[in-house]
Amino acid sequence: MAQAVSVVEVSARIERAATLEELKDIRTEWVGKKGRLTEEMKILGKLSPDQRRTRGAELNQVREAILSALNAREEVLKDRAERQVLETERVDLTLPGREPISGLLHPLTRVRRRIEDIMLRMGYSLAYGPQIDSEWYNFEALNMPADHPARDMQDSFFVDVPGLVLRTHTSPVQIRSMQRHQGRLPVKITAPGLAYRRDDDATHVPVFQQVEGLVVDRNISLGNLLGTLKMLIHELLGENVGTRFRPSYFPFTEPSVEMDVACAACGGDGCRVCKDTGWVEVLGSGVVHPTVLKSGGFNPDEVSGFAFGLGIDRIAMRLFGLDDLRLLYQNDLRYLARFQSGQGGSLS
Ligand code: PHE
Repeated sequence: MAQAVSVVEVSARIERAATLEELKDIRTEWVGKKGRLTEEMKILGKLSPDQRRTRGAELNQVREAILSALNAREEVLKDRAERQVLETERVDLTLPGREPISGLLHPLTRVRRRIEDIMLRMGYSLAYGPQIDSEWYNFEALNMPADHPARDMQDSFFVDVPGLVLRTHTSPVQIRSMQRHQGRLPVKITAPGLAYRRDDDATHVPVFQQVEGLVVDRNISLGNLLGTLKMLIHELLGENVGTRFRPSYFPFTEPSVEMDVACAACGGDGCRVCKDTGWVEVLGSGVVHPTVLKSGGFNPDEVSGFAFGLGIDRIAMRLFGLDDLRLLYQNDLRYLARFQSGQGGSLS
């Protein structure tokens, strides 16, 4: 009988089905709405009552057999799929955990601390002032009255409150420190901190770091300043680094001196770091102007002093051999981490 053969054939196909999809195809082909068996059943009506009864019973048997074979195989395949999922998704408890990233000091912080260290060894104490300061501390007290053209040297960020400014340098801490000393000598402070200017290029960022130095005592001279600066820079960058002093102008010092170090990026040939001069300016300094001593409550006829302001970022650029300062401020850990292992620079 044709159907008997079919059952054997279909059962064999069902047994061979390797996936649930394959099984579903067989189900549709045979017992689906338009399946082969379903079609057979539809024509039962055209047979005589006798034929219909035998044929009907036969078809029902076949249908039952196919359905139970399909269901049995489905069980097996589902079970297999489940076991496979369990197998592949098993959590391996023996894997070592992910190591958490431990914090690192920012390269600029390490440079700042190194400068502080040298200053402390030279007998200075640390001093601090506010980053939002009054125009008086930032300018007036430093001999820069409101209409003084020297204010243009330090393009400033003003805040909404009149009379306040984001300090353009750490020099206002000079005044605050002298005031705190109330005339007692000597004043010997160093003031690290952030300063703000409307600058933005490869060697200037709008928020930058300085270290201020101030000494006030009897008989302090330009010689003391130059000696101190040489010592500081040599401690910081090495005995062999090329340095030079240039006369300069700051309203709060007289005379004023800028210190340059030989450009490490190009070795003196000229490049974008040193603006083709072979030298990079690292600090401004000078003998404290009498007006500034007066602002701090000292008598310029009795005492004198020297002051300097060092750019931490410039020193960092040199120590790490960078040609763009801005990268240090983007806080990309992949970049900053390079400076930890010594690969990116020489800071120990
Ligand atoms: N404050 C000056 C600047 O930021 C640097 C400086 C400090 C110059 C102290 C002289 C004395 O440019």
